[in-house]
Amino acid sequence: MLKNCVEHSPKGGEVNVVCAQNGIYTEIEMSDAGDGISKKDLPHIFERFYKGENASHESVGIGLALSKSIIEEDNGTVTVDSSERGTVFRIKYMAF
Ligand SMILES: Nc1ncnc2c1ncn2[C@@H]1O[C@H](COP(=O)(O)OP(=O)(O)O)[C@@H](O)[C@H]1O
Ligand SMILES: [Mg+2]
Repeated sequence: MLKNCVEHSPKGGEVNVVCAQNGIYTEIEMSDAGDGISKKDLPHIFERFYKGENASHESVGIGLALSKSIIEEDNGTVTVDSSERGTVFRIKYMAF
C-alpha cells in the first residue's frame, strides 16, 4: 500500500503514514495526494490481478489482493477511499 502511494504520487509529492492505537483498535493509515483511483476501479482494486485504468506497464495487480488476504488472515480489515485528490488506505485491527 505504501509502495502504491509512492508510485502514484507526483514527483516531490508527500506520502503520509498515521498510526493510532487505543484500547479498542490499532489502525495504520497511508495516504497520497496522487492521481486517485477512478470510481469504476475502486470496488475492484483488492481483486487478484485487477489493474486500474491508471496502472503502469509493470503493474501486475497482485499487491493489494495479497495484502488484503494477509490482513484478513489476522482478523484485520483494510479499506480504501479515493478521489481525484488522492488515496487513503486504512488497516485496522480490533483489540478484542
Ligand atoms: N495509491 C494509489 N493511487 C492510485 N491508484 C492506485 C493506488 N494504489 C493502487 N492503485 C490502483 O490499483 C491497482 C491495483 O494495485 P496493486 O494490487 O498494488 O497492483 P500493482 O501495484 O501491481 O498495480 C493498480 O493497478 C492501480 O490502478
Ligand atoms: Mg502495488
